[in-house]
Amino acid sequence: MPRLVAVSNRVAPIQEGEPTAGGLAAGVLDALKQQGGIWVGWSGEITAESTANPARTVGPIALYTINLSRKDYDEFYRGFANATLWPTLHYQIGLAQFDWNDFAGYRRVNDLFALAVSQVVRSDDLIWAHDYHLLCFAEALRAAGVTNRIGLFLHTPFPAPAVFMTIPSHAALIRAMCAFDLLGFQTETDRTAFSDYVVRQAGGKAGHNGTLHVFGRSLRTGVFPIGVHVDEVRVQAEDPVNRRLATRLRTTLRERLILSVDRLDYSKGLRQRFTAFERFLEEYPEHRGKITFMQIAPPSRSDVQPYREIRRELEAEAGRINGRFADVDWVPLRYLNRGFPRNVLMPLYAEAEVGLVTPLRDGMNLVAKEYIAAQDPDDPGVLVLSQFAGAAVELDAALLVNPYDQAGMAAALDRALSMPLEERRERHAAMLHVMRVHSLERWRDRFEAALRTP
Ligand code: G6P
Repeated sequence: MPRLVAVSNRVAPIQEGEPTAGGLAAGVLDALKQQGGIWVGWSGEITAESTANPARTVGPIALYTINLSRKDYDEFYRGFANATLWPTLHYQIGLAQFDWNDFAGYRRVNDLFALAVSQVVRSDDLIWAHDYHLLCFAEALRAAGVTNRIGLFLHTPFPAPAVFMTIPSHAALIRAMCAFDLLGFQTETDRTAFSDYVVRQAGGKAGHNGTLHVFGRSLRTGVFPIGVHVDEVRVQAEDPVNRRLATRLRTTLRERLILSVDRLDYSKGLRQRFTAFERFLEEYPEHRGKITFMQIAPPSRSDVQPYREIRRELEAEAGRINGRFADVDWVPLRYLNRGFPRNVLMPLYAEAEVGLVTPLRDGMNLVAKEYIAAQDPDDPGVLVLSQFAGAAVELDAALLVNPYDQAGMAAALDRALSMPLEERRERHAAMLHVMRVHSLERWRDRFEAALRTP
């Protein structure tokens, strides 16, 4: 049985009870927890020099981490990954910044990850890299003489070629991505966008089953929507110990709950969501005093400029909206600038009459899926979901909204809060069914099977 070597920049805190940063780490951790394997990633530490730490074993996972020097962190993580790639992949090109030095740093750190992997890999291991931090990883690994099968799963969207081409080093990035044997995307839209670039801009040819022939080699592309452990989420949501916070909330909260949980990131559409909520209070005054909108938004990447700005702006907006609508015994918006462990969040999802998930763009958005999985099937809440989240492809029984349409979002909130039980059950059952089919196990197994097949 070949071993699985997962490689990602972010490695999950392996201890239970700590907040996990984003869907990637949670997904990879869950995928490795069951069958074991090796996980190579950044330790989260910045040290004088970029160095490798001794291996650690946590359960069935052997963990190899590397520390980054300040220069590597600045150019790779803060710079090219999060100031250039992240906004561009999420169609926010107005926020993107580019510097050739950052791109050189990005390549250098991809080389570092490749070196770390080349030192632990055996000849029949499958190497599975994750996300936009590692687009140049396979090229680096090939240069180090590794001939194993190497796949990449992109957790973020892949944008239309015209958007991707705003990155000055776009051609080098695409060439590097084509050194993988398998490229996995969340949706067909993302896969097609990549394939279009290769065919129209790089002189490639598209063959059967997502195969691309380009730069003198062939690679496969495929769609592998990431899922969640449906039953595990529901068990967590009902666990009495996990439920302590949710119970406390219910005893102090008389109103019905609209809940949003996002990393504090401009791609999540929080600014637009706050405005839509204000519009909802204006246009549907009958809900005033009867609902609470709770936004949980743990700070993220706070040393990257646009993240500092959005944090400032949202604090001001929350204060302004509450100032405008609050009453002596009612506060409409509770804005929590902190994270919670997943097991504590699941009961909160279960408590919420409405799950409001409205990113401007999102690769998948596991909060949407976890919200559905956490609900009581006999009396489920309603998911209001952005049509621009990858999850909207599978969860089309949600109330789909355009996050740029304030009036539309306000109307969807009103509709969600007035939806009859029968309709709520039907929509929930349809989504749960799709999520059971597209489970996290299936995501892992399909990707691994495709990677194994030459
Ligand atoms: C998203 C990305 C992940 C990333 C996570 C948290 O989910 O797709 O690659 O790990 O955000 O962001 P951070 O920069 O803290 O790792």
